[in-house]
Amino acid sequence: MNILVTGAKGQLGSQLARYFQEKRTPLGTPSILTEENKLYLTDADELDITDGAAVLSFCKGKEISLIFNCAAYTNVNKAESEEEIAYKINAQGAENLARAMQERGGRYILVSTDYVFDGEKGAAYTEEEACSPLGAYGRTKREGEILSLAACKNTAVMRTAWLYGREGNNFLKTVIRLCEERGGMRVVNDQFGSPTFTEDLAYHMLLLAERTETGVFHATCEGVCTWYEFACEIARLAGLKAEILPCTTEEYPTPAKRPAYSVLENARLKALGINRFRDWREALKRYFA
Ligand SMILES: NC(=O)c1ccc[n+]([C@@H]2O[C@H](COP(=O)([O-])OP(=O)(O)OC[C@H]3O[C@@H](n4cnc5c(N)ncnc54)[C@H](OP(=O)(O)O)[C@@H]3O)[C@@H](O)[C@H]2O)c1
Repeated sequence: MNILVTGAKGQLGSQLARYFQEKRTPLGTPSILTEENKLYLTDADELDITDGAAVLSFCKGKEISLIFNCAAYTNVNKAESEEEIAYKINAQGAENLARAMQERGGRYILVSTDYVFDGEKGAAYTEEEACSPLGAYGRTKREGEILSLAACKNTAVMRTAWLYGREGNNFLKTVIRLCEERGGMRVVNDQFGSPTFTEDLAYHMLLLAERTETGVFHATCEGVCTWYEFACEIARLAGLKAEILPCTTEEYPTPAKRPAYSVLENARLKALGINRFRDWREALKRYFA
């Protein structure tokens, strides 16, 4: 099988690439890693997913039959003033890849976000609950889900949240940098979610790729915390003596409005018996180990 990973230089794409290179994961060894599969890794400079013709011709030329789409416009605040650009990548780009897999009879794994929900429910969301994104990023990602599911019948959308990994920029690295540079920071303590390690998500993407189920899947680490609690745990595990202070969303205004409680229940992965996501604290420990 010929497999394409888009956004391969990003946080998640690079973790998937590492799994294919090492042919194993710390959570188990899905058979997709042991087969004689050929992997194509691309990022924006090699294959711009917004170029539909280029995507089709790449997939045809390389005989791709499975795509892990890790490419995205991920700057939540900037998306508020660049919604058109975000839409091109998160919605149209996602759809272009779906179309290519429909044409070739392939499977398509698209990664999406907890920010498709408004967080008003105050309890965990399951896959079938109605979406109502608060900001441009969430809106464009939701459009990407809808367009992809319509364009390719063999699409699995995996919604994740608060992602961190070894490569790329993320909240974890910002916390470490600010604690080192300034000796501390203020962090919002009234937004709840589930920090998710790319190791856990990439493993479940491999598991789902081997199966035939389609539609939306929630895919986050277990457990719930606030950004403040996440920051405190990061500083503790990094061995940093920093002053981290809790604040409210009101006290820390950002261009994008974020959901107050965007916890996802991995209901479908659990129903399939393949939910091996670790508790967020355990996964974070593993990151530092
Ligand atoms: N990060 C989070 O907290 C979070 C939370 C929930 C869901 N997600 C979702 O998880 C997925 C992976 O996120 P991530 O954090 O790994 O993202 P990331 O680190 O920002 O990586 C995204 C990659 O996509 C590339 N890209 C951007 N535009 C492209 C284009 N037109 N064609 C091809 N590649 C393009 C980027 O390249 P450049 O760097 O050159 O632009 C980057 O390498 C995304 O779908 C994201 O929406 C992320």
